[in-house]
Amino acid sequence: MITGAGGQLGSLLSAAAARQGRDVRAFTSAQWDVTDAAAAEGIVGPGDVVVNCAAYTNVDGAESDQSSARAVNAAGPGYIARACERVGARLVHVSTDYVFSGDFGGSAPRPYDVDDQTGPLSVYGRTKLAGEHAVLAALPQATVVRTAWLYTGGNGKDFVAVMRRLAAGDGIVEVVDDQTGSPTYVADLVAALLQVVDGGVHAPLVHAANGGAVSRFEQARAVFAGVGADPQRVAPVSSAGNPRPAARPPYSALSGRQSQRAGLSPLRPWRDALAEALHAAPRG
Ligand SMILES: NC(=O)c1ccc[n+]([C@@H]2O[C@H](COP(=O)([O-])OP(=O)(O)OC[C@H]3O[C@@H](n4cnc5c(N)ncnc54)[C@H](OP(=O)(O)O)[C@@H]3O)[C@@H](O)[C@H]2O)c1
Repeated sequence: MITGAGGQLGSLLSAAAARQGRDVRAFTSAQWDVTDAAAAEGIVGPGDVVVNCAAYTNVDGAESDQSSARAVNAAGPGYIARACERVGARLVHVSTDYVFSGDFGGSAPRPYDVDDQTGPLSVYGRTKLAGEHAVLAALPQATVVRTAWLYTGGNGKDFVAVMRRLAAGDGIVEVVDDQTGSPTYVADLVAALLQVVDGGVHAPLVHAANGGAVSRFEQARAVFAGVGADPQRVAPVSSAGNPRPAARPPYSALSGRQSQRAGLSPLRPWRDALAEALHAAPRG
């Protein structure tokens, strides 16, 4: 049972699971509105495994639309968890690196472990953290999977897709160099989620992100180099000089160390995943 099946992750998870011959029921937001408690009660049945890919993901938009963000990211996951608890279904819930602040109190940043202190800087991050808590309070056997900086690199609006299109043009492209994270290829997250679905991972909270930490600026340069464009066309700028409605953590890379101890296979380094994504992406 896949919610948010019209989205970036939900659509690829649905397709991959179906390709593997699994019994998949994929629900778009029109087919299952996760903010509707009664819908969850009516849809989830005994023995089901629900993967909640539905979310209010407009990080800037959430700042001025807190009630919608809270309904989808916090209340909705709680309704699904309660429905699962009532009938004996399992739940895999997807969350984000933006639950972290990136503030290391003056110490050198290091990838966040699952039990590190959270401290979201934005409405999106706060509502996603509330969703984690709602899920685990209602259904302690659920698994919350935090991921980060998702992309397919295809024709969509993700960062790699946008940089790939900009690389095909000319001129200088300015990208912030003071946000560092874990770019994650959706195909790799899909494999990790299916491993969790299959019951091979034993922890309430795991991190599933490609390995390593990189700034948006360095990631953009890697995309340019990967498609044969001149990486020097990417110029570093600061977030302060490019204000957005929502604050982003200066550092939110995720460590998979503890998750691997819980049974999750390591996700490959971000550069290897990016190379495959660019190879798979449409040309031109
Ligand atoms: N994208 C990233 O970089 C990133 C990073 C870290 C974590 N995540 C997490 O990864 C998960 C998947 O994100 P994504 O990148 O696939 O986002 P996405 O492409 O925006 O997909 C989210 C989906 O949720 C659906 N949705 C919104 N409100 C809903 C509701 N009330 N009921 C049911 N469905 C609803 C949307 O449907 P409509 O379009 O019809 O509204 C959309 O199909 C989310 O939990 C997100 O927080 C994403």
